[in-house]
Amino acid sequence: MAGAQHSIDGLSVRDLADHLELVPQIARWHWSEWSDHTDPNDSEARKQELIVSQSLRGSVPFTRLALLSEVLVGTATVCWDDGDADFADRGPWLTGMFVQGPARNLGIGRVLLGAVEEECRDLGFDDLWLHTSEAHRFYERCDWRVVRPRAYVGVDTVMRRTLSD
Ligand SMILES: CC(C)(COP(=O)(O)OP(=O)(O)OC[C@H]1O[C@@H](n2cnc3c(N)ncnc32)[C@H](O)[C@@H]1OP(=O)(O)O)[C@@H](O)C(=O)NCCC(=O)NCCS
Repeated sequence: MAGAQHSIDGLSVRDLADHLELVPQIARWHWSEWSDHTDPNDSEARKQELIVSQSLRGSVPFTRLALLSEVLVGTATVCWDDGDADFADRGPWLTGMFVQGPARNLGIGRVLLGAVEEECRDLGFDDLWLHTSEAHRFYERCDWRVVRPRAYVGVDTVMRRTLSD
């Protein structure tokens, strides 16, 4: 089982592949945080299918989980198909970056992000990409750079993290 201890007491980062029993909880969070509840093609069940499909081990798409004292508190996924249309030839893309409300601002997001960056580096990628509507300041604190600022509602900020030195 992949996993690592971090400087936050009780925190470990694990592969979703080793914790598929947590998929329903993750789908509930992602459905409530990001879904368009008016879209008939979207549902919590569809989210579960998507999350399972993002549980590869050692290749993209993969998902890593943050567990605090063995309780799920966060998720982060790396995939190819959640890119920005203006940067269609770039990737891979970070998606599903989430820390549960009461566990925020403790440094867990930073640790989780560091873990997926490290995995991408190990897989041989030179950079990692994301687009975000609201969270660009969090990523800037974690050494990501804005490639395209958010111009107006509906056009996300695009950011990039260089992985090679
Ligand atoms: C964004 C999110 C993942 C951050 O997780 P977190 O565990 O609270 O973040 P951390 O505690 O590791 O914070 C790391 C740094 O970013 C800063 N930070 C965290 N959230 C921030 C925010 N919303 N705006 C600005 N800075 C933020 C922290 O102050 C900290 O800075 P410092 O250590 O340099 O002082 C979490 O707030 C979340 O899940 N939000 C809702 C979902 C979301 O927006 N996800 C991003 C989708 S693109």
